[in-house]
Amino acid sequence: VNASQTWAAEVRRLADERGAVILAHNYQRPEIQDVADHTGDSLALSRLAARVEADTIVFCGVHFMAETAKILAPDKTVLLPEPKAGCSLADTISAEDVRAWKAEHPGAVVVAYVNTTAAVKAETDICCTSSNAADVIRSVPEDTEILFLPDQFLGAHVKRVTGRENIHVWMGECHVHAGIDGAALRERAAAEPDAELYVHPECGCATSALYLVGEGTVPQERVKVLSTGGMLAAAESTTADKVLIATETGMLHQLRAANPTTSFEPVNPRAECHYMKMITGEKLLESLRTGSGEITVDERTAERARRSVERMIAIGT
Ligand code: 13P
Ligand code: SF4
Repeated sequence: VNASQTWAAEVRRLADERGAVILAHNYQRPEIQDVADHTGDSLALSRLAARVEADTIVFCGVHFMAETAKILAPDKTVLLPEPKAGCSLADTISAEDVRAWKAEHPGAVVVAYVNTTAAVKAETDICCTSSNAADVIRSVPEDTEILFLPDQFLGAHVKRVTGRENIHVWMGECHVHAGIDGAALRERAAAEPDAELYVHPECGCATSALYLVGEGTVPQERVKVLSTGGMLAAAESTTADKVLIATETGMLHQLRAANPTTSFEPVNPRAECHYMKMITGEKLLESLRTGSGEITVDERTAERARRSVERMIAIGT
C-alpha cells in the first residue's frame, strides 16, 4: 500500500464518518477527482448538490461553486477545503455594478453566469453555466433586452449561437481562459492539421476557432465549443487520433481516462487555475477531520439568489 492509497482510504473513511459526499470539479487535481464521489462540470455538480442526501457536502472547487451548493441545499453543511479558492472571473463584477447596470436598462432580464458571487446572483433573474447558456437565453422572450454577465467571451458565444442582437455583455474574463488566445490556437491547429478542437466558451480563442473554420483551416465538424462536461461526452465517442483542448489543464485527466485510444493535448499547457489547485490532498483531509472551511450565505441573499439558481438547474440537459 503506497502513500496515495493510504491518503485516499483515509479520505473515504473520514467522509463516511462525517456523513459527507465529496463533489469535485473537472479542474481539480487528479487525486482529488479520483477520490471524490462525483466529478463533473458546474451544472452537473449544482444539480447533484440540490438533491444529495448526505448531511455534508465537501465541495472541491472554488468559492462560488460552494456558495451555489449552499444556496441550493440550505439545510446542508457545505465545506470548501480552502475558502480562499476564489475566481478571477467572479471578481470582475459586484452586486453594486449589477444594480447600476440594471438602472441603465430598465426592463432588461439579467442572465448571470454561475461564476459570480451569491450577492451578484441575488440581483439576477436567471443563472446559467457554459452547458446551458444558450438554452437559458432562449428561455427569455426574443424581444426582451438581456444583460449578460460577467464573461465577455461566453457572451459573444451565446450571441453567435442564438442570433440575438439585444444582448448587452459585461466585459469580464477569466484570466486562465483569456490566456488561451487566438494566436496559441492558430499555432497548435496549424501544427496538428488532422486534430479535432474542443474549445471552452470562456476562452479568448473561442471566436478565433470559428475564424479557423471560416477560412477553411479546420473543417467545421472538427471544431466544438463545449463546457467541460460537454468535452467529456464528446471524448467518449470520438474516433479522432488527437484532440486539442482549449481549457484549464485539469480537464485532461478525465478526458484521458474516458478515452485511452485518443490523444488529448492542451492548446496552452500553462493554462492552470491556481484557485482550483488550492484544494490539495492535505486541505481535503483537514476539512474532513475538523469541519473547516464551512461556507455560509446570509439568508436574505440566499433567498433572492435561489430563484435564479433554481431556474438554471431546471433548464437544459
Ligand atoms: P464548466 O465546468 O461549467 O464548463 O465551467 C468551467 C469553469 O471555468 C468553472 O470555473
Ligand atoms: Fe474562475 Fe477561471 Fe479558475 Fe474557472 S478557471 S475558477 S473561471 S479563474
